[in-house]
Amino acid sequence: TRVMLLFGGRSGEHMISCATASAVMAAIDRERFEVVPVGITLEGQWVPALDDPQHYALKDGEGAFVEAQGTQVAFLAGTNRLVEFSASNPEVFKDLGEVDVVFPLLHGPFGEDGTIQGLLDTADVRYVGCGLTASAAGMDKHLTKTIIQQAGIPVGRWELITDRQWLQDREGCLERIKALGEVVFVKPNRAGSSVGITRVADFTQLEAAVEEARRHDPRVIVEAATPGRELECGVLEFLDGPRASAVGEITVSGADFYDFETKYQDPDAVSLSIPADIPEGVRMRLQEAAVKVFDALGCEGLSRVDFFYNEETDELSLNEINTMPGFTPFSMYPTMWQQQGLSYPELVTHLIDMALT
Ligand code: DAL
Ligand code: MG
Repeated sequence: TRVMLLFGGRSGEHMISCATASAVMAAIDRERFEVVPVGITLEGQWVPALDDPQHYALKDGEGAFVEAQGTQVAFLAGTNRLVEFSASNPEVFKDLGEVDVVFPLLHGPFGEDGTIQGLLDTADVRYVGCGLTASAAGMDKHLTKTIIQQAGIPVGRWELITDRQWLQDREGCLERIKALGEVVFVKPNRAGSSVGITRVADFTQLEAAVEEARRHDPRVIVEAATPGRELECGVLEFLDGPRASAVGEITVSGADFYDFETKYQDPDAVSLSIPADIPEGVRMRLQEAAVKVFDALGCEGLSRVDFFYNEETDELSLNEINTMPGFTPFSMYPTMWQQQGLSYPELVTHLIDMALT
C-alpha cells in the first residue's frame, strides 16, 4: 500500500506539522506501507521530501521546515497518479505512480480546513481523517460553535466580527465585545495553535487585539473567558463507529493561557495529565459529548474535542475541535489512546486502514 505523507503547509503550524511527519515516518509499519513523503512549503509548493525522520524533527525548540526545491509534485488532474516536474520547466515530468491513500499531517488553514480534502476528493484518492465539510466547519470557530450549540452541547458566549462590520461600525463591534464580560479572548476565526490570539483584560487594548487577529483572518471571533479546567478527549473511528479515548487535562503555569510559545517552545510550562483527575460521572459525560460533537460535525477517522469544565456549576462547554490534532508521540491525542492500550504505531496503522475501508 502506497501511503503519501503530506506535511508542512502554508499555515502558522507548518513546523508542528513537520514534527508530526517526523514521528509518523519513524513509526509507520514499513512492512505494510510504502511511504511517499511530500512536503508543502510555506509558499504552498508541493515538493518531494526526504524520507528522514531526523530531518523534520523539532530540535531544541527549533522547528524544521519544508524547503523549496528544483522539482515539484502534483496529482495528474483528476487522478491519483503523482507526477514530478521541474519547477523551472514544467513540461518535464516523471511519473511517480499511483497513491493508494494520503495521510494529510497538516494543521491549520490550507490543510486541516477542507481545502486539501477537496483537492484529494477531486484527485479521487482516499485520505485519512475528516472530509471536506467537517474539516471546514471544524476550522471555522463561528461555524463550529453554531453547529455544536444546535446539537445541544453548551458553548461559551461569543461574538463574530466580520470584516465589513469592523470597517463600517467599529463602535458597534466594540460594544458587542464589551458586553461579553471583563476578560475576553480575541482570535482569528480560522487558525490553529493559538496563532494571532490575544487575551484582553484591559479594553484599551481591544482594538489592537482585533487588528492582530485580522492579520490572520478577516473574520474575528471574540469569546467570553470561560472559567474552568481544560479537558480534552480524543475520538477515533472504528468499523462499528466512533469511540472516545481517555480524558486528558492541560494545566498551564506561568502563562495567561495556552499560547503558541507555551505550547511549543516552553514544554515545562504545560503539563498534560492523562487520565485527568475528574469524577467518573464527568468523564463519562465528556466522552459522550465528544462523540456527539464528532457526529454533529460529520467527522471521520479522528478528532480531538476540547472542553472547559466549570467545577462550580458542574458544566461542560465546548472549547474547540481539532480535526487533525497535534500528532507527535508526546502530543495529547496519541497519548490519550496509548492510555487505552493503542500504541502510536498501532494508531497510525489503524487510521490508514480506516481510510482504506
Ligand atoms: N492545532 C494543534 C496542532 C492542536 O490543537 O493539537
Ligand atoms: Mg487547539
